[in-house]
Amino acid sequence: GAELVAAGEKVFKKCKACHQVGQGAKNKSGPQLNNLIGRTIGSVDGFKYSNVFKAAMEEGRVWDEASLAAFLAKPKEYMKGTKMSFSGLKKEADIEAITAYLASFGEG
Ligand code: HEM
Repeated sequence: GAELVAAGEKVFKKCKACHQVGQGAKNKSGPQLNNLIGRTIGSVDGFKYSNVFKAAMEEGRVWDEASLAAFLAKPKEYMKGTKMSFSGLKKEADIEAITAYLASFGEG
């Protein structure tokens, strides 16, 4: 619902240094996050991913709510070798909220 999306917008402050989402979103030090749910992992044109992301892309793995939750809880455990320098979201409620927020920008 709208409240969860609003809560997710606040959580996204932790991501903004590296990621953009929404109309006109560009790759920064992290890839743009539009149409993320259902998007193939590591598939944004023009973004230079780590090897673990390239391998996931070649395997055709896709972001869904479960994989996104696992990655955001412990990025470096879920994607060993990732260059995303983020320690992870500790609170389940934050993960739920950010997922709703990102899903509001379309599904891939
Ligand atoms: C990758 C989300 C914080 C840098 C990704 C991906 C997602 C994501 C979903 C995979 C995208 C894809 O497969 O195309 C988030 C969220 C954050 C966050 C929701 C906040 C809660 C950050 C921060 C940084 C960062 C703070 C920089 C310090 C990156 C980089 C990648 C990435 C460099 C590419 C990883 C690789 O190639 O190994 N992020 N991120 N992210 N993110 Fe983040």
